[in-house]
Amino acid sequence: MVRVSGPRPVCYLNGNYLPLEAAKVSPFDRAFLFGDAVYEVVPVYAARPFRLRQHLDRLNRSLDAIRMPPPLTHGDWAHLCQELISQNSAFDGILYMQVTRGAEFGRNHAWPDGLKPTLFGYFTELDPLPVALIDTGVSAITAKEIRWERRDIKSTALLANILLKKLAADAGAFETVLLERGELTEGSSTTVHIVREGTIYTPPNSQHILPGTTRDVVTELADLLSIRSISARVSESALRAADEIWLAFSSRGVLPVTKLDGAAVGNGAPGPVFKRMHIAFANYIRELGTTPSL
Ligand SMILES: Cc1ncc(COP(=O)(O)O)c(C=O)c1O
Repeated sequence: MVRVSGPRPVCYLNGNYLPLEAAKVSPFDRAFLFGDAVYEVVPVYAARPFRLRQHLDRLNRSLDAIRMPPPLTHGDWAHLCQELISQNSAFDGILYMQVTRGAEFGRNHAWPDGLKPTLFGYFTELDPLPVALIDTGVSAITAKEIRWERRDIKSTALLANILLKKLAADAGAFETVLLERGELTEGSSTTVHIVREGTIYTPPNSQHILPGTTRDVVTELADLLSIRSISARVSESALRAADEIWLAFSSRGVLPVTKLDGAAVGNGAPGPVFKRMHIAFANYIRELGTTPSL
């Protein structure tokens, strides 16, 4: 069977499952006018959402931070995800879920009370990751952090992130790694880990980075593998001197960065700690396979 990546035909919008092309949202929706919305991206392996509880917990934290009550319970979301998977005969890919503050006429910066949130979800397949990427790694560039002070909120207002990602694309690189006052924050759409003398380091969760769900998987698996992992500030010089650099993100798990700003990372090939983590990650996905998603 030839797999075609891209959004699958049935989406969810405000209580209904309908064809993607029939999904319509008002231009007065505050997500359209202000980026006034939050979202989640949940990986799906073998028709099962991965770490769904953690994603939904983060969604509720994002909602709370923008002063919106949760529109659905975790159980409701789990049902919605399962419906999108089954109605699309989905297997591997990602679920996207978005909650906006809703539509109102007037374009008021300070929103009025009583708006009805807009809920949207869809499933998409991803292009298969070329196996060679795991063998050779990807390249990244660095750039100055230009985003706002609440990067812990998974907001759809991603203008800075997309501009930063485009810098990487322009340079033929995979990701832009961000530096602020001489320290690593994260990638434009990834968490960054480095390895130095066998220990994994990643910046601590704070308002300066998105608390990555894949980051937590890496930390848990490092514990299981008895690899020391430390949540601590990473200076630019530590980043540039790292033996290994990894990107962690829901849609691809962990990926090795073997070139940073044109210079080889370590010996220029994915390192031994990455290789162990990559195998452990794949095993973990398999082990979860038959367990309930919540
Ligand atoms: C800015 C940013 N940081 C980190 C991540 C990684 O988060 P997760 O592992 O939950 O996908 C993402 C994912 O989209 C992101 O956009």
